[in-house]
Amino acid sequence: MSDLSLPFDTRYLPVKKFHHEYRRSIEQPEEFWAEQARQLDWFRPWDKVLEWDPPFAHWFAGGLLNASHICVDRHIKHWRRSKVAIYWEGEPGDTKVLSYSTLYNEVNRFAAMLRNRGIGKGDRVALYLPMLPELPIIMLACARIGAPHTVIFSGFSAQALADRVNDVGAKLLVTADGGYRRGKTIPLKTVVDEALTMCPTVESTIVVRRANIPVSMKPSRDFWLDDLLEQEAPYIAPEPVESNHPLYILYTSGTTGKPKGIVHSTGGYMVHNYCTYKWAFDIREESVYWCSADVGWVTGHSSIVYAPLAHGAAIVLYEGAPDYPNVDRWWHIIDKYGVTIFYTSPTAIRMFMGYGEKWLAKHDLSSLELLGSVGEPINPEAWVWFYRHVGGERCPIVDTWWQTETGGIMISPAPGIECVPLKPGSATLPLPGVDADVVDESGNPVPPETRGLLVIKKPWPGMLLGIHGNPERYQQAYWSRFPGIYYTGDYAVKDRDGYFWMLGRADEVLKIAGHRIGTAELEDAAISHAEVAEAAVVGKSDPVKGESIVIFVRIKEGSSPTQDLKQAIIKHMRQVVGPIATPDAVYFVTRLPKTRSGKIVRRVLKAVAENTPIGDVSTLEDEAVVEEIIKIYQELKQVQEVK
Ligand code: WTA
Repeated sequence: MSDLSLPFDTRYLPVKKFHHEYRRSIEQPEEFWAEQARQLDWFRPWDKVLEWDPPFAHWFAGGLLNASHICVDRHIKHWRRSKVAIYWEGEPGDTKVLSYSTLYNEVNRFAAMLRNRGIGKGDRVALYLPMLPELPIIMLACARIGAPHTVIFSGFSAQALADRVNDVGAKLLVTADGGYRRGKTIPLKTVVDEALTMCPTVESTIVVRRANIPVSMKPSRDFWLDDLLEQEAPYIAPEPVESNHPLYILYTSGTTGKPKGIVHSTGGYMVHNYCTYKWAFDIREESVYWCSADVGWVTGHSSIVYAPLAHGAAIVLYEGAPDYPNVDRWWHIIDKYGVTIFYTSPTAIRMFMGYGEKWLAKHDLSSLELLGSVGEPINPEAWVWFYRHVGGERCPIVDTWWQTETGGIMISPAPGIECVPLKPGSATLPLPGVDADVVDESGNPVPPETRGLLVIKKPWPGMLLGIHGNPERYQQAYWSRFPGIYYTGDYAVKDRDGYFWMLGRADEVLKIAGHRIGTAELEDAAISHAEVAEAAVVGKSDPVKGESIVIFVRIKEGSSPTQDLKQAIIKHMRQVVGPIATPDAVYFVTRLPKTRSGKIVRRVLKAVAENTPIGDVSTLEDEAVVEEIIKIYQELKQVQEVK
């Protein structure tokens, strides 16, 4: 294979070692991945590195392992048993520090408790919890007994919680009485009570005591965690599971109203994350690793729980709001725990940029060695600010591109192998084993500097096993556009050095403050309001959040487009989905631009929301009445947002 058949050409970049590793991984993927997988503990080695029956992959087929054994037990037989595993800080300032041996005892105690509640291999457990130490502990306890967990972000509403619990068919739900956010308590158990009226599969609920607020406990269904945990930690042997045994199911928004339950394996997922955290973050057992994401998103699964703990690093887990009680809370945490690797989102960086550098100056951030960014494209200004003021011009920034579906990082600098020269705003090059490219609508690679669709051309170990209960949707959403090739749904461009620049979503998925949410899910929520006949959502660029939600609403006959109705629709959307569904602007319209087949022409709505020209609509010719669309655009431009 010649160098030029690789998706980039690093011959002219000063990264010979990286180039060598990358070539090897693409030319001999099975040898390469087997070598990586041998770094983890297996109870039984695999028979085959990869069985690829597109679009279904079976990595390390026949191999037996256990993720909790890898993240916890392994360290117990080592000096790491007495080192810190988790530094936890609650929003009010209370703290807990868990060593690996304490974590081991806790995971065993929790696993015993789950077993006593009748949970066994294959049973699904739903977790709806604030960022408490109990959250990673329960995840690891589930993994220990082979029960796939599904973590539901604690900002989701009762309806959104119920939809996910029902789709996954959870037998048990773990929650807390409440959690802290900006000094207030959020009554999580009350949300759970409402959700459980709609969830027939849930047999019992376990409640973690956190906020000490009054809650109602339904006899023989609801139990306080403290009452169930035994004092002495029993030993629960980690269940050896086959490599493709699901470790977890995590819901994410797609292009229909129904969220997708992304299923991740144990073997492939653990191997992918173990390696990529070494490559991208150069993570080591002595690292103090802080990922500021919520465990409710995939970033939290891989970057707070499974990857850093597999490496025996110490993680920081912070419960509350980033700027509470003061805007230097995060810098205080970095200083206090001596964080060495700090991983966050461009939205957070932009928010702190807005607060100014004076808040950083109060703290010693010299422990930092490396910074990371994830979740949305990082603009060069934010990159440079992060580099200069947080990293003290000392720390490389790894801009890591990945998705819930990819399970782990795919495109990122790899200082753990050899760092490529960084370019602010670019995620740089695919990691070893990742065969990424940018293609046109027909699947042909586009020339450098040309926008196209980001695809992955070979299976990779962390890839999703599928969508829970829906193999057709899995095939359709990711593998039908370009047969045999994974479609990411993202736009990207490659520059002349082969560096990847991510340009946001090509499909109808928004990224609000880095949180992924589908327009269809938001539209469904709006339409479920009694006075809404039709709704269309688009994202508008936002200087801090990246994107904000703009909704165009056609109301029913007899309803009036008032400020009160606008507020009622916003409130309703927050109730149906959660606070992340809050629109920033609401437009009442009398009709929406559509193609002949009834598909909303979002481009027109986006132009209205952004106050930009409509651009070339001639490509719509076959599908829509162009003049009509232009007329609607002009009509919409007259419509004022309801203030
Ligand atoms: C976007 C988050 C630009 C992208 C791990 C992707 C990014 C979606 C980056 C997945 C990045 C993630 N630069 N865009 N470094 N990382 N994205 O599933 O649009 O919440 O498809 O996973 O986030 O979001 P998800």
